Amino acid sequence: MNTLKNDRFLRALRREPTDTTPIWVMRQAGRYLPEYRATRSRAGSFMALAQNPELACEVTLQPLERFDLDAAILFSDILTIPDAMGLGLTFAQGEGPRFAHPVRTRGDIEKLAVPDMDVELRYVMDAVRLIRKELDGRVPLIGFSGSPWTLACYMVEGAGSKDFATLKAMCWNEPKLAHQLLDTLAQAVAAYLIAQAAAGAQTLMVFDTWGGLLGPAPFREFSLRYMARVVDALKASPHSAELPIVLFSKGAGQHLGALADTGCTALGVDWTIDLADARAAVGSRVALQGNLDPAILRAGPDVIRREARAVLDSYGRHPGHVFNLGHGITPEVDPEHVNVLVDEVHAYGKTLRG
Ligand code: CP3
Repeated sequence: MNTLKNDRFLRALRREPTDTTPIWVMRQAGRYLPEYRATRSRAGSFMALAQNPELACEVTLQPLERFDLDAAILFSDILTIPDAMGLGLTFAQGEGPRFAHPVRTRGDIEKLAVPDMDVELRYVMDAVRLIRKELDGRVPLIGFSGSPWTLACYMVEGAGSKDFATLKAMCWNEPKLAHQLLDTLAQAVAAYLIAQAAAGAQTLMVFDTWGGLLGPAPFREFSLRYMARVVDALKASPHSAELPIVLFSKGAGQHLGALADTGCTALGVDWTIDLADARAAVGSRVALQGNLDPAILRAGPDVIRREARAVLDSYGRHPGHVFNLGHGITPEVDPEHVNVLVDEVHAYGKTLRG
């Protein structure tokens, strides 16, 4: 992939020197952009947008037209896998995800099969191929999946939740059943990411948004163990063996060392831990991606610049930092504030790395 015009994201993931710090933004294609809202309303619904490769490609590229970002991320959702398993996903306006058929019983779990990536999830692979073509080497494309644990949270609960207590109860009451579900999901997640790599994704990211809901021992048993299996599978496939792998467990700052032990390339870090401390926990085994509090984008430009510099200073002059928010950008953010952030990261990052 030497044809990339801007490879500083991939170089930073490999902990190689870069001219400045690369930046992309979680949920960079989303409702804070009026052009996203327009395309979404043309599509009719979030799922109709995600399942239409032309429209998914269009919204993937929208933030790159506005901002000097160093990576694109496939426009899709982590819940495409459970939808393809037959759970019936909908997003009610302003409500979040809902499954028509949540997974609760042994029978439900035994019925689950790994979806065929060229049939039920073909629309995702078509979108990846089209986006790569339209990007034309401008910046690398990130493919992604939810972690087995985080997908199971939604599948068992049937909707979003603050604590996903239904799956946690299953972990205590019927641990074998929970493990059977997570095992099937680990196979599906690995197959999904390998198929995205084969279609052209240049980095693979796993979102473990709800890993931090677990105590330390259950985190290792129900979340980390299955992400480690996914990493092993990605390293064993010729399609993905050479690609950087980023794991992001939100709220799991105390597990960074164990996450690095999986053999991944980089870790996403949320804003509840200082990057200097995160780096002390992992040494130079992995690159780090993060970690500005997304709420800071609601402050004025001077605060955004100051806080961006604080994140950059916290990581310091070592190679291996990809700037990002510590979680997704929220709908009420003024897009102009993203411009302020991107420009400050590139300008100040140059003084640290140039
Ligand atoms: O980052 C990007 O720009 C790529 C696209 C992307 C989306 N979802 C689009 C989306 C990515 C990487 C995701 C991942 C995702 N989806 C996660 C993990 C990351 C995280 O934020 O923790 C999770 C937990 C989901 C599940 C999900 N999808 C929820 C809970 C919701 C509803 C809540 C919300 O933010 O509205 C979604 C819907 C969704 N996925 C939207 C977008 C842009 C908003 C829906 C809309 O347009 O109406």
